Amino acid sequence: MKVLVVGKGGREHTLVWKLAQSPRVDKLYAAPGNPGIARFAECVDIRVDAPITQPEKLRAEILRLRDFALAQQVDLTVVGADDPLAAGIVDTFRDAGLKIFGPTAAAARLESSKAFAKELMAAIGVPTATHRTFADSAAAAAYVRAQGAPIVVKASGLAAGKGAVVARSLEEALEAVAQIMDQRIFGTSGAEVVVEEFMEGEEASLFALCDGEHYQLLAPAQDHKAIGEGDTGPNTGGMGAYAPAPVMTPALIAQAEEGIIRPVLAEMQRRGCPFEGVLYCGLMLTARGPKVVEFNARFGDPETQVVIPLLQTDLAEVFLAACEHRLDQMPLQMSNQTAVCVVLASGGYPGKVTNGFAIEGLDALAGQTDLLAFHAGTALKDGKLVTAGGRVLGLTALAGDLRGAVARAYEGVDMVHFEGAYCRRDIAYRELARGAKK
Ligand code: AMP
Ligand code: GLY
Repeated sequence: MKVLVVGKGGREHTLVWKLAQSPRVDKLYAAPGNPGIARFAECVDIRVDAPITQPEKLRAEILRLRDFALAQQVDLTVVGADDPLAAGIVDTFRDAGLKIFGPTAAAARLESSKAFAKELMAAIGVPTATHRTFADSAAAAAYVRAQGAPIVVKASGLAAGKGAVVARSLEEALEAVAQIMDQRIFGTSGAEVVVEEFMEGEEASLFALCDGEHYQLLAPAQDHKAIGEGDTGPNTGGMGAYAPAPVMTPALIAQAEEGIIRPVLAEMQRRGCPFEGVLYCGLMLTARGPKVVEFNARFGDPETQVVIPLLQTDLAEVFLAACEHRLDQMPLQMSNQTAVCVVLASGGYPGKVTNGFAIEGLDALAGQTDLLAFHAGTALKDGKLVTAGGRVLGLTALAGDLRGAVARAYEGVDMVHFEGAYCRRDIAYRELARGAKK
């Protein structure tokens, strides 16, 4: 079978690494891929990674990729990122008779339109923060004043994970409304704003692989979105993750399946846009049970870098089963290990970064089975590996327990060097503190 993975980050490197282990897979392509991915897949220079704010560019590249897949007779395509999904890559591939794992544009609205997701949850009683949607900044500001702080202000459209402001003060909340709606710092994604209740609790990510009707869960994970230790400073794409996250107990998982995943899948089906692909449930574990912070319509990154290495089932078989609507017959086997990923980022991230610094030390990791280096923002320059982005590498370790996996992941971090490298030294700190108290 020929498989094409769409994307270029640590998430896609992990998917390619796992798919390469499948006896069903003879040939892997990645578009555009990265130097880590190139060890397993033929990288194709077609980039469906223009933001959704440049729809023509995105459409043109999607059509090029479709033609490539047709020409190479690709049997299965898997999409990593959100923008091409929102732009209808799945619809385009299916119309051409190609098999592809992911949601249609209509189904991807669970992520691409917070207003759609919120309306759907309200309609079927899925627990989430109460909210109001505004297309007018004066009305949004008036509502914020009436509610008071703490309060959360979000751009309704896609904003690279940076569209949410958790405002501790009224001033901060009003400033966020002005920036999103009047100054349009996220472009047209800020045409509408969602103002919502502040939820108190710990966060967890739960991924359901869906075929429109059935689903299978991956191990629950916990991400670390803030740049600074102790969850301080601005949000990033994610600085590290671990799985399974014990805070998501079997009872809470069951509650999330019953109260969130099943009703959402049923409602999407009823509305004529059945959800296929990864339903990423970003949950807040509140005193009154799990509530939805957000849905994403794709794999999370870096969470993928921990949940996929724990999966023992053949991933190509799983994706095929999903495309053929028989996921109910595909129970997933999980390793009983714990996985930890520490992201090594460029200095300055999530702000402006300088690219092109030489990356040293990765050779020492080659051949290790309990320590994996997934490439996120790397490039080859004159045959040498250099930094090329905010998040550069994900060091994932597997061990019998969390403490061991954390220690091993940091051993990996300390083996790798590039100028200005930054990582959080406290990945999994909440769970480690709980463990220490036991
Ligand atoms: P989002 O862009 O919706 O994923 O939000 C980004 C981050 O903001 C989340 O991961 C949470 O940490 C925080 N957040 C979002 N909504 C809320 C909320 N209603 N209450 C508390 N924190 C929130
Ligand atoms: N780890 C957060 C995300 O993928 O959106």
